[in-house]
Formats: sequence, structure tokens, C-alpha cells
Amino acid sequence: METDQHKQIPFNDETLAMVNRIIGRYPEGRQKSALIPLLHIAQAEAGGWLSPETMDYVASLLKIKPIEVYEVATFYTMFNLKPVGNCTIEVCRTGPCWLNGAEEIVSHLEKKLHIRVGETTSDGKFTLKTVECLAACGNAPVIQVGTAYHENMTTESVDLLLDEWREETSPSYQNPYK
Ligand code: FES
Repeated sequence: METDQHKQIPFNDETLAMVNRIIGRYPEGRQKSALIPLLHIAQAEAGGWLSPETMDYVASLLKIKPIEVYEVATFYTMFNLKPVGNCTIEVCRTGPCWLNGAEEIVSHLEKKLHIRVGETTSDGKFTLKTVECLAACGNAPVIQVGTAYHENMTTESVDLLLDEWREETSPSYQNPYK
């Protein structure tokens, strides 16, 4: 799979200005509080995932140790530590979604995409992940792609969405601050 791993790392002037605005929201000495927003930006700018080099760059921007960045990036499932496809499908696997059919949806997606959870299709189009509660349990089962939530999913509605996602050229990992 081809990936443009470091297309905007280091950040260009426009993104650096955005980063400095975000860091400036926090009191002097508390710049680490901007870590999660910066990781979202870095992930989007770096092609959808955080390499050690990208995380080191974020650490340098915040003047913190790289290990402090790794600790956060490896904890949250929204951060990818290996290259992903153009469309990352995140299926909630927590209790309410699982009890309402998420397991069937995961199996269905694995079958349709010919990959297992955690893998990317050979054409670089799709990555399939499972994640913890997306906070929309009342409409379980739930799938997230980029910033969009898809609720009350069935295998039939997943198929319709797959057709849409196949046509989509913009990656799901957009910079949320642009
Ligand atoms: Fe899936 Fe909460 S359990 S959204």
C-alpha cells in the first residue's frame, strides 16, 4: 500500500500558526494540555497515522519528552500507529453495540473487505478497526468514519455506506481544526 507518510511534517506555516493558536489557549508551563489537539492535526497532516518521527516532532513543538507523546498516542484508539487506508471504519465494540449486532457487522465488513480487524485493504482504500463506546449507545450499533457517526447500523445499511465510501476520494482523517 502506498502512503504519503510525512506529507506535511514538519508543518507548513499555516498549520504552525494554527498549532501556536491552540498552544496559546493554555497557561504558560501547561502547553502539554495541547497534546491531543496537536496529535489530531499531526495525524491528519502526516497521512492518517503517527510514526515515531511524527510523534517526536509533536514533542518538540510542545517542548516535552517524546515518551509523553507516545503514552497518549498509544492509549487512544483514535490515533493510528501504522498506515491506514483512505477510509477508516471504526465499529464500536462496547456492550450496547455488541448486544445489538456489532459483532455481525464486524464479521460482515471483514467478509466484504477481505481483511480482519486492524488490517487495511491491499488497494489502500479501507482500514477496519473496532473501538470502545462512541457515546451514542441509544442508537446502537454505531460506526464512525472520520467525524461522521452512522447509527442503528444493519448489514444492509453498511453495504449502502460501503458503496458511498468506495466513491469517496477525500481521506477520512481530516484535520479537525481546518
Ligand atoms: Fe457503542 Fe456506546 S456502546 S456507542
